[in-house]
Amino acid sequence: MSKNYSLYMEQIKEQVESRLAQFFTGEGLEEAMQYSLLAGGKRIRPILTMTFCAAAGGREEEALEFGCGVEMLHTYSLIHDDLPCMDNDDLRRGKPTCHKQFNECIATLAGDALQAAAFQTILSAPGPWEHDPTAPGAAAGVLAQSVGVEGMCGGQYWDTIDEEKPRTLEKLYTIHDKKTGALLRASCMMGVLASAGHRAVDVACLDAAKEYATHVGMAFQIRDDILDAVSTTEKLGKPVGSDAANNKTTYVSLLGLEKCEELVLEYTERAKAALERADWRGDTGFLRWLADQMAKRSY
Ligand code: IPE
Ligand code: IPE
Ligand code: MG
Ligand code: MG
Ligand code: MG
Repeated sequence: MSKNYSLYMEQIKEQVESRLAQFFTGEGLEEAMQYSLLAGGKRIRPILTMTFCAAAGGREEEALEFGCGVEMLHTYSLIHDDLPCMDNDDLRRGKPTCHKQFNECIATLAGDALQAAAFQTILSAPGPWEHDPTAPGAAAGVLAQSVGVEGMCGGQYWDTIDEEKPRTLEKLYTIHDKKTGALLRASCMMGVLASAGHRAVDVACLDAAKEYATHVGMAFQIRDDILDAVSTTEKLGKPVGSDAANNKTTYVSLLGLEKCEELVLEYTERAKAALERADWRGDTGFLRWLADQMAKRSY
């Protein structure tokens, strides 16, 4: 079964890659946008968007535009995260970071423009939206909330301001939840919203998607902290030891590797359990499998 899930995931990833390749084919700023967007990456967020749409009773393809929007947004967050004023990293997705390949001004603008394009892509998603024509607007609203001061940007603020000052576990949980959890929450919830072409959206599914993503998000960022401490640059395609170089408090620096491994498993179990709290029209087996895969990922 898990072999089929790998194949299924690969097929969805291919759909995402080929749709993303159709954007930003012009010159100038578009070259920088396309450079970072097509540099690789696991495409976890659009995969979640499309497979949550299927779990909620839609077809994966119906969430493709929402998923591409989320990936543009995520890529913008990575470009800015790597800037000298933030984590100051030179390698991303196995290639020089956007500001190294182009320059800081272009990288800043490429991130800004990717953010705008993300909303434009979502708001012009073709549907069908027979049961709820407001679905693109609702999806854009969910994304906006996840990116703004309550979400990714707010989390990045606390992550980088006074980053060398020690943090409590509670504070670190909130930072991780905002900087990483929020966008994963939006990815999953937007998938459920994309199923509105077929039927009115089920609130229990939306809530379950939110809870699944919250726990997956925590497991995902703790694994990211672990990999930053123990992996290799070749495997990750980004510099290892970046957190230590910036004197950042991470789950690893606070709790040690062994406890972190336990927590990754614990949050992953909670994520899978959250799916039980709704009646899904489609299969949720893939989402449970994916949570496990993300927990044991090595890049
Ligand atoms: C990296 O995200 C930033 C975090 C939120 C930890 P990913 O690990 O999803 O990066 P890509 O998209 O695969 O490059
Ligand atoms: C980044 O967290 C979260 C974002 C919003 C981009 P990190 O700074 O740990 O991500 P990496 O390790 O650079 O991918
Ligand atoms: Mg960072
Ligand atoms: Mg970083
Ligand atoms: Mg990291």
